[in-house]
Amino acid sequence: MSKAIIYAPLAGISDSLARKIARNHGADMTISELISSEGIIRGGEKTLEIARFNQSERPLGLQIFGSKPESMAESATILASLSPDFIDINFGCPARKVVGKNGGSSVLKDLSLLKRIVAMVVKAVDIPVTVKMRSGWDSGSLTYLEAGKIIEDCGAAAVTLHPRTKVQSFTGRADWSQIAELKQSLKIPVIGNGDISSPEDAGRMFSETGCDAIMVGRAAIGNPWIFNRIKEYLNTGEVPPEPTPRQRMTLALEHFDSMIDKFGVPRGVFKMRAVFCWYFRGLPGISEIRFRINRMISPEEIKVTISSYLETLELNSEISGQEAVSSG
Ligand SMILES: Cc1cc2nc3c(=O)[nH]c(=O)nc-3n(C[C@H](O)[C@H](O)[C@H](O)COP(=O)(O)O)c2cc1C
Repeated sequence: MSKAIIYAPLAGISDSLARKIARNHGADMTISELISSEGIIRGGEKTLEIARFNQSERPLGLQIFGSKPESMAESATILASLSPDFIDINFGCPARKVVGKNGGSSVLKDLSLLKRIVAMVVKAVDIPVTVKMRSGWDSGSLTYLEAGKIIEDCGAAAVTLHPRTKVQSFTGRADWSQIAELKQSLKIPVIGNGDISSPEDAGRMFSETGCDAIMVGRAAIGNPWIFNRIKEYLNTGEVPPEPTPRQRMTLALEHFDSMIDKFGVPRGVFKMRAVFCWYFRGLPGISEIRFRINRMISPEEIKVTISSYLETLELNSEISGQEAVSSG
């Protein structure tokens, strides 16, 4: 897993289509959104839909959460029958829906429970088991080093640390020194995560922490180019350019086509509304276009609107470029 760049699990975002796109743009590995162990055992269609994946997303992990070791082990066995490359256990989610049932980051408060969960899941499946965690519940209970040791002793194959506490949620800065400390204290690979938003950040994450691989989440939303840009930077030391508006629109429209193929009209159109926002972020005059396409149902009409926006944008930038040249 040397220098692997992993696409982080992002509930409601990193679905099968997004993971395929991330792989096509340089992500070395992907992980599903978190899946409820109890939901898997109940076999609900919505839960199983989250677990489905395509071969193109491999190497891929399916991520489970829950608070009952037996349910975690049983759900891991069920998911292992889908043949993912590994099972990832979530000890990081701060969402009320998850910690309210003592899952996700709340397990970091009870290391004997954490131990039973990891041990039982590792025993239940014959594929690698990894763990993704935060640094603790709050600043007064930073359990990541102790948890890391337990996770390693239980036979997990790797551990990802997002060095924020549950209470911090997404505020403040991720404390990368905790990743460096965890790396120092374990033999299994440590994956560094948190606040990587540019190729230079990725380089710093490797050099400051000594981690074995990195994981990128929010910076990859609507921006899968980040993976190949990071790789190029790590290989050459040069920061590659950001994608052009045309590249962004072209990929957004490809994503849209796949969404319509998969979910049909209107469901695919509704689902795509949020996704367009991610690809469009920061483009001039885009809020008006977003407002308009959010009221459209016809895929053709949406595509024409986006294409003509792009043409106008390119024309305007050509004109302003010419003006700059003639006035300079
Ligand atoms: C919208 C959203 C959904 C997330 N869903 C999950 C999830 O399902 N499982 C998980 O382990 N982490 C989840 N995370 C946390 C990310 O995987 C990652 O650890 C965190 O965003 C820090 O990395 P970043 O700074 O690169 O985004 C989520 C984060 C966000 C913003």
